[in-house]
Amino acid sequence: MATATMKDVARRAGVSTATVSRALAQPDRVSSELRRRIEAVVRDLDYTINASARSLRRNDTGMVLVVVPDIGNPFFSKLLKGVELQARKLAYAVLIGDTEHGAARAEVYARQLEARRADGLILLNGRTPSFAGFRVTSNAVPRPLGPRYPIVVVSERIPGSPWPTVGIDNVAAAERAVLHLADLGHRRIAHIAGPKGNILTGERRRGYRAALAKSGLPADPDWLVYGDFSIASGRRAARKLLVCPARPTGVFAANDEMAMGAIVEIRAFGLAVPGDVSVVGFDDIEFAEIFDPPLTTVRQPRFEMGQRAMALIGRGLRGEALAAEEVILESEFVVRASTARAAPAKR
Ligand code: RIB
Repeated sequence: MATATMKDVARRAGVSTATVSRALAQPDRVSSELRRRIEAVVRDLDYTINASARSLRRNDTGMVLVVVPDIGNPFFSKLLKGVELQARKLAYAVLIGDTEHGAARAEVYARQLEARRADGLILLNGRTPSFAGFRVTSNAVPRPLGPRYPIVVVSERIPGSPWPTVGIDNVAAAERAVLHLADLGHRRIAHIAGPKGNILTGERRRGYRAALAKSGLPADPDWLVYGDFSIASGRRAARKLLVCPARPTGVFAANDEMAMGAIVEIRAFGLAVPGDVSVVGFDDIEFAEIFDPPLTTVRQPRFEMGQRAMALIGRGLRGEALAAEEVILESEFVVRASTARAAPAKR
């Protein structure tokens, strides 16, 4: 079968080639109905942009680098799928670098980009010292040093950076999660926060504190424990909370993995979830729904976050100057069985 061209896609979808090009490169700029129609034709015809011709023409690598803080965190899998799918539509391939939440590996990937081994960068790690001709100065504001490549920051943010950001309103989502516990009658609500210094840690902690203040609930310093977004750190944090003189009956964890770790530990301590302690997570990773008990959590639109980030990169690769805009996507609060009304005696 002959390879399908953009003209074939346009003809079958009943639109112009310019519209096909726009729908693939900037999906947020066409209606969702039109986007779905064109995507269906793209799939049917197995259409891909002619990458080698494009590379020869523009002398590019055809690669986009995605830097992830922890590839082991299932939060990123669906987000990467969104990046990959959109990259494929634009005939780019994706390289993944895992920084393990640190700066040293980030430097290694920064050098790859400086050596022109990729054409654009998606950063999922806000703690990045330098990238692609931008260096973070002592006051943490990156400034341009060399050639510009399109860069988009996703999920985390780098305050003051000149790059667009795709994420959710973490403060509001965290506040909503804690208000849910307060509405269920919990009066001693703890927070298992992310690592200190992480932008998301601060934002989710701010939401936690705002909800306590709104509900007139105490903020005992013993009830704020830091983890590192891993299951093991959730377990460690729960062990601290369980021996507090005033043991909390509600726990808001800054991600699902820490929530799951906390639940395992609460049970090992001989308490029931949600009978004795209600637990809320954040992310809605795949396992959240099938965990025992299914986790009440904040759903982040992970696939869309990845897709939107790659679409922005696509615009940058076509020469558009990317502004430092913030794309804030909707999150959703999902109530499942890990939270319940506080027992009257435990309030
Ligand atoms: O980087 C870890 C965390 O940040 C994830 O679990 C998710 O919450 C993301 O926003």
